[in-house]
Amino acid sequence: MNAIEIISKKRDGLEITSDEIAFFIEGVTNKKISDYQTSAWLMAITIRGMNVKETVALTIAMRDSGRQINLDELGQGSLDKHSTGGVGDKTSLVVVPILASLGVPMLKMSGRGLGFSGGTIDKLESIPGFRTELTLPEAIAQVKQVGAAIIAQSSELAPADKILYALRDVTATVESIPLIASSIMSKKLATGAKNILLDVKVGVGAFMKNQESAEELSKLMVAIGNGAGVHTEAVLSPMQEPLGWCIGNSLEVREAIDVLECLPDDEPLFRKLCLDLSAHALVTVGKCNSLEHGHDIAQESLRSGAAALKFAQIVHAQGGPSDCKLIRELLPKSHHQVELISHQEGIIISINAEEIGRLSSRMGAGRLEKTDIIDHSVGIELHTKVGYSVISGQLLATLHLRANDAPGAEIFKKEILNAFAVDSETLPSQ
Ligand code: URA
Repeated sequence: MNAIEIISKKRDGLEITSDEIAFFIEGVTNKKISDYQTSAWLMAITIRGMNVKETVALTIAMRDSGRQINLDELGQGSLDKHSTGGVGDKTSLVVVPILASLGVPMLKMSGRGLGFSGGTIDKLESIPGFRTELTLPEAIAQVKQVGAAIIAQSSELAPADKILYALRDVTATVESIPLIASSIMSKKLATGAKNILLDVKVGVGAFMKNQESAEELSKLMVAIGNGAGVHTEAVLSPMQEPLGWCIGNSLEVREAIDVLECLPDDEPLFRKLCLDLSAHALVTVGKCNSLEHGHDIAQESLRSGAAALKFAQIVHAQGGPSDCKLIRELLPKSHHQVELISHQEGIIISINAEEIGRLSSRMGAGRLEKTDIIDHSVGIELHTKVGYSVISGQLLATLHLRANDAPGAEIFKKEILNAFAVDSETLPSQ
């Protein structure tokens, strides 16, 4: 068996065996196969595709390339939730405390943002004192004591994925469904939860731009998870416009606390998604039999204050302030705020999530390179959403800027305005 044979088989559209895949991944992990051969193989997979059997074999080989966590001591009910990534997606900050308050043990490993898509770890690190780098024994002890921990992804998990992902990023091979599915699921399976809930985003602000590809990815990941003996479910959710009101790290934490504390002006679609995902998770772990019942239980956790209390307990256990009021007060605030005013009248028909995500990254909320330092205080606060009516002179968004970006605010304003599409033919009724 050698790398050239395996590359040429895939180039010619033939099925590669599980042994060949395991051989290749072992070679990648131990640097016995060069980056140029790996890149050629990734391109052959991207063009020729992989069947389910090959994709499962690739996932298992990547899972086995590093450490696997044993969460047996948390029982059969432990759950991991994973979103395929989007703009303004802070659902984990609400769903994890809801579920933990209802007795679902959650050791959640999350990622950092890259490009236009945000990351839960960056959001949490905007809370002063919050430690995302817990050791595994520390994290497991916290789950036993408080019910949940949210920590940064360990680099010891699925190291082959790290190597493959870095090459995919620079060889135009990110957008391959088998490669995305195996990348995500290898890390999820290595994390050891007994149940996995996947939130597969679909739309301009997501990897999967249309319903068909999102369904294909979701079915494949569910098949891989269940095939590996882990109860896996997936939900598809829209990522056309940004999720919720806020994009940017501390702004998103504040918005998540608004939902946890049931403030009246929280954004309805964001709150609904948090409840939907919680309901699915409760059915997945067998805490209830129907989504309706799950919805009611999750809603009650918000209404009673149990979820907000659980969030504060998680934050405090990981080094942050001890209650939501204090967390809010200590979140970093931007130096400079600029208002974006509408010059049009009509109905908002789209707010391009990808454009908004890219802009907020350029404003300092995200990274263009993995090594970039982010500013937790900056971002974009929307005051309107798709389907809402606007009149001329109405506030569309507030830009939270770094002090040294203040002179360039007009450029940001112009670009953000371009992300809005307004139908002026349909005039607001009020
Ligand atoms: N997230 C991952 O972890 N891998 C991919 O390939 C895409 C999204």
